[in-house]
Amino acid sequence: MNGMCIVLFILAFASIGTCQSVQSTARTPECLHFSSKTSGNNHISQGFGKRIPKPTGTGHECSHNLSHWLWHETENFRTWAMNSTFVTGVRDGTLHPTSFGIFMLQDAIFCLEMSKSFQVAANQLSNGSLKSLLEHEVKSYKRCGDELLTEWHIRNAPAIVVGAECQEYIDNHVNATRDEHPIYGIVAAIPCLRLWPWIGQQINLQNHQYGVYTDWVNYNFDPTYDGYKKLEVMTNEFYAKGLIDKDKALHYYAKSIEGEAAFFDSVKP
Ligand SMILES: *[C@@H]1O[C@H](CO)[C@@H](O)[C@H](O)[C@H]1NC(C)=O
Ligand SMILES: *[C@@H]1O[C@H](CO)[C@@H](O)[C@H](O)[C@H]1NC(C)=O
Ligand SMILES: *[C@@H]1O[C@H](CO)[C@@H](O)[C@H](O)[C@H]1NC(C)=O
Ligand SMILES: *[C@@H]1O[C@H](CO)[C@@H](O)[C@H](O)[C@H]1NC(C)=O
Repeated sequence: MNGMCIVLFILAFASIGTCQSVQSTARTPECLHFSSKTSGNNHISQGFGKRIPKPTGTGHECSHNLSHWLWHETENFRTWAMNSTFVTGVRDGTLHPTSFGIFMLQDAIFCLEMSKSFQVAANQLSNGSLKSLLEHEVKSYKRCGDELLTEWHIRNAPAIVVGAECQEYIDNHVNATRDEHPIYGIVAAIPCLRLWPWIGQQINLQNHQYGVYTDWVNYNFDPTYDGYKKLEVMTNEFYAKGLIDKDKALHYYAKSIEGEAAFFDSVKP
């Protein structure tokens, strides 16, 4: 079964980070300062026992690693996602099967609406690597949604009602691609792609056994999946060129990762 966050990256991108048809004023990117939530040391918690170092030694260097900064600044939502009813339920093999189904049906709509939203961003560009990446996402998410509908024997997507949490998560991406430079469509998509393998790393302690959800978890929360890295590389390139505002990026990124956690937590145990 395919979850929303497992989309494969098989296309190669020929040209590097240009954005010909969108008007932007390049500025020098600001230095990124990492907020320290764990006082008295130089580490941040990754939740659930793992700690990773900050990328800077003293915290005073000028970092331009936007993708790392965004991930670091939104740690609390990862913790929430780990502790959500869906993730704890599949981890323990106890999630009610109806709740699993309700999540999967909404996930199909999520994928299809994300595909449309990526198309809105891609349509603003005439060519270049950003357009290629966006169009790749259009196809991946479309395939994900179509496969889920087929598996669940659903003919018409509009028959499925999504809950408020899933809708809000979708709306954040739709707003980003409607209101902002197309690169924000990439920024707002990173949390989903990065969170699922991260969850896989966190729950791997359980020897890969999750009751009836074993196959689903091992496939969808695959800890080795690194498809998000292409999106992070492009995000960092655009940031280095001064084409991304860090606060705006954090706004969409945080709403996305919060949306993921809230969607996970919207189903009953
Ligand atoms: C940004 O930080 C990540 C670690 O989170 C690292 O893997 C990546 O190489 C860094 N990118 C750059 C351009 O330094
Ligand atoms: C996870 O949820 C449980 C039950 O709601 C709560 O007791 C616990 O503190 C939460 N843990 C984290 C890390 O949020
Ligand atoms: C994008 O298109 C413009 C004209 O439409 C062309 O001049 C430019 O070389 C193209 N760039 C790439 C990377 O293909
Ligand atoms: C999306 O934008 C609309 C305004 O057009 C706003 O009312 C709504 O709260 C936004 N949704 C999200 C999730 O940010």
